[in-house]
Amino acid sequence: MFITFEGGEGAGKSTQARLLAEAMTAKGRTVLCTREPGGAPGAEVLRGLLLSRDHDWSPPAEVYLHFAARAEHVARTIQPALARGAVVISDRFADSTMAYQGYGLGADRSLIAALSRLLPIRPDLTVMLEVSPAIAAVRVAGRRQALDRYEAMGPAFHARVAEGFAAVAAAEPDRCAVVSADGGVDDVHRTVLAVVASRRPGVV
Ligand code: TMP
Repeated sequence: MFITFEGGEGAGKSTQARLLAEAMTAKGRTVLCTREPGGAPGAEVLRGLLLSRDHDWSPPAEVYLHFAARAEHVARTIQPALARGAVVISDRFADSTMAYQGYGLGADRSLIAALSRLLPIRPDLTVMLEVSPAIAAVRVAGRRQALDRYEAMGPAFHARVAEGFAAVAAAEPDRCAVVSADGGVDDVHRTVLAVVASRRPGVV
């Protein structure tokens, strides 16, 4: 089983992915928690290039770099874990490229859709965390690290990203479950558990 978490900045994806992994581990499942861009040594090198504010990639180059990182992540980390029978939970996957590069940056969406279709795997379930812009802004401002290249982009960019995630969720309702992430960590976790249990009975 391959589960992804998607959503804009400040949605709490990493926390929710970890809490779901802990809940599944407590049920006796073997779970691998991973993230994008990254999740494999070479892909983490590409993450550094993509998030650094020293580079201003052209939109198509940025799309290919995300898919290069993803190809490495899929081949080196996700597929071997699935083959071992683990549940794989990824903090972001291909929907992020559609939302950030396709909608946010105006990169060619048909190219992104085509590259996504060519991937050898597809998530069984995607939890789309939706957060109000004002709440997201407070959460991002509370982080201690310097803003990365995407976090530093303005509110209009992040509004287009949110529109992109909503469009993906509307186009693929069987795969994508939209969950409001405005509440506290425990409330959102309970909703995520309920959504996973209803979409994939017996898994958690
Ligand atoms: P995060 O670890 O905070 O989620 O940071 C990853 C950043 O990379 C986030 O701002 C979203 C961005 N991103 C893209 O723009 N496209 C992608 O395909 C992926 C996976 C992430």
